[in-house]
Amino acid sequence: MQETRLDIDRIQAARRMIDPIFLDTPLYRCEALEPGLGCAVNIKLETANPVRSFKARGTELVASLLADSGSRDVVCASAGNLGQALAWSGRDRGLNVTVVASRHATVAKLDRIRALGARLELVDGDHELARARAAAIAQHQGIRLVEDSLDIETCEGAATIGLELVDTMPSLDVVLIALGGGALATGVGHVVKALAPGAEVICVQPSGAPAMTRSWHERRVVTTDSTDTIADGVAGRYPIPAVLDDLLVVADDAVLVQEASIIAGMRMLLGHAGLVVEPSAALGIAAILEDRDRFAGRHVVTIVCGSNVDMDAYQRWVGA
Ligand SMILES: Cc1ncc(COP(=O)(O)O)c(C=O)c1O
Repeated sequence: MQETRLDIDRIQAARRMIDPIFLDTPLYRCEALEPGLGCAVNIKLETANPVRSFKARGTELVASLLADSGSRDVVCASAGNLGQALAWSGRDRGLNVTVVASRHATVAKLDRIRALGARLELVDGDHELARARAAAIAQHQGIRLVEDSLDIETCEGAATIGLELVDTMPSLDVVLIALGGGALATGVGHVVKALAPGAEVICVQPSGAPAMTRSWHERRVVTTDSTDTIADGVAGRYPIPAVLDDLLVVADDAVLVQEASIIAGMRMLLGHAGLVVEPSAALGIAAILEDRDRFAGRHVVTIVCGSNVDMDAYQRWVGA
């Protein structure tokens, strides 16, 4: 396998630094989903933890290393889940966490960031403006900037999910991974390609936020002027070149799905698996719905990666 920025020994070491509450998450075959999808569907459930997403696997590493170094101040931009996770990981380690987010971010995510004791700064723009503002704060105050997907710890933390997949799933044909900045896909993808190379790694993004997927297909960074999707966790416009390079090594494909399929996926996860999930976590199911023939009869894993939703929006989407 060609090199990426990741390394299996470091990912194994990372596993030992993460609070066990975020590790060894349920992985189970969900037969109730199968008649509607036509393949063997396995769920890797990353929502049953104190921050309801996988992002704390990475922030546990960031916060531990920072606390060990004696630094106390840290800032990140976030659509909500990274910020919530960093607030959680920083709280018990005595870190001063600042999170910059869009004023239009999911309210439930913003509320949890504040409740966990972080300072929250809102910008009048989208996630890319929040990224620029977080970088400016870090530079101005001389503090640590956590850049999701670029900082290797964010990828290594996510990659520990890959270790759990290859350790516990004997027949693994396809892994479906929500693609935002790319920490999840490059992390899990690296482990799967290194330790279970027969499995196909497929990244999934909404058609309304296609920058990284287009970049993967064109093998160069492609940006977009705007995003239009309910999947707020993956709605970036400016892919990071180093992350794209890794994604080109570890992903077998990157596909785009329609909003209607994301909503149908959320409905199926509620109705057949009893899971309330945020839109980004339904991308894998959406990909199966849009291309059943591709997955027919295969053993598929989808990472159910977050469940932070505003309940009124959720009820509108799923009609619950
Ligand atoms: C629920 C959820 N799914 C998927 C992603 C995408 O992950 P990544 O940015 O690592 O590609 C995120 C990112 O925050 C997320 O919160």
